[in-house]
Amino acid sequence: MLQPGKLYKCKVVTMNKHQPFSKSRSVDEITGHRRLRRNRKADWSRRLVRENTLTVDDLIWPVFVIEGDGREEKIDAMPGISRYSVDMLVREVERMAKLGIAAIAPFPNVDLSRRNATGSEILNPDNLICQTIRAVKQAVPEIGIITDAALDPFTDHGHDGILQDGIIVNDASVEQITRAALLQAEAGSDVIAPSDMMDGRIGAIREALDGAGFQDVSIMSYTAKYASAFYGPYREAINTGGLLKGDKRSYYIDPGNSDEAMREAETDIAEGADMLMVKPGLPYLDIIRRMKDEFAMPTYAYQVSGEYSMIEAAHANGWVDGERVMMESLLAFKRAGADGILTYFAPRVAEMLKG
Ligand code: PBG
Repeated sequence: MLQPGKLYKCKVVTMNKHQPFSKSRSVDEITGHRRLRRNRKADWSRRLVRENTLTVDDLIWPVFVIEGDGREEKIDAMPGISRYSVDMLVREVERMAKLGIAAIAPFPNVDLSRRNATGSEILNPDNLICQTIRAVKQAVPEIGIITDAALDPFTDHGHDGILQDGIIVNDASVEQITRAALLQAEAGSDVIAPSDMMDGRIGAIREALDGAGFQDVSIMSYTAKYASAFYGPYREAINTGGLLKGDKRSYYIDPGNSDEAMREAETDIAEGADMLMVKPGLPYLDIIRRMKDEFAMPTYAYQVSGEYSMIEAAHANGWVDGERVMMESLLAFKRAGADGILTYFAPRVAEMLKG
């Protein structure tokens, strides 16, 4: 940091002689009248010049649901996060709506006895996710419900699609996912958010929704979903981690790629996506910025389970101030161009912002 009044030796190239020479100059001689610290001098001036802010309107709450009644279970890998039975979840969502949270994204932890190779339980109109949608919609109609149509909570191998001879078959998976999306729309879902990365799923879902009279049901595409190790704790939360055979690299994007995410975005938009999402969050801020700049679409970030748990773990060890890191990480998404964030911190942030 340059100190006013102090003289600094600096090299200057003169116009006529291209010979550098040393001369002592003060800060004002070096920077002219420009002093960037002037606006940082007080809380009021920092607030006045702040370019990005976080509000409850930016928050989507991803939440885990479990079968049964009156159940709330802690998740070891995600300190502070629970799975709720539908009745308990409805109470939580009422609280979230009062706090002003825009939308929820429920993910089901389905009993293992109902999982199989094709994830056929996803086609049961009374499955856990459809029950959740109906109960929340009835009790708290003002909050948005965003639901995933991927198969992973329902398959016994943990993949998002149908596994045949060691391969996730694209078109049969899209057919199943599309039928699931229709059931979720019938149950009252406001936004279908397919996280499976199968080719052609957005167009297929849009066509099916429109054909069934659900023109107003939106699609938020998991457009750039990366083959990431940051999803670990989520897999514990919905109990797919131990089941997963192999990995998801044949359908999620390789973490080395950025152009490919733009081609996914272009395709999803052409197929009828209303909103785009980038996942995970913080390690992929460059993708959010690029997508926002190139397509000017409503663009969302998913701060995933591993990101949440890393912050919590460092906080629990006394290594960082967890609350400040939470707020700073969320603000970073806004700065990168995100219009909203799916974050497990949503309830805590909403409470803080309120008060
Ligand atoms: C799968 C799905 C994943 C997440 C949500 N839906 C990833 C996966 O299991 O591969 C991750 C969310 C998180 O980590 O918070 N369709």
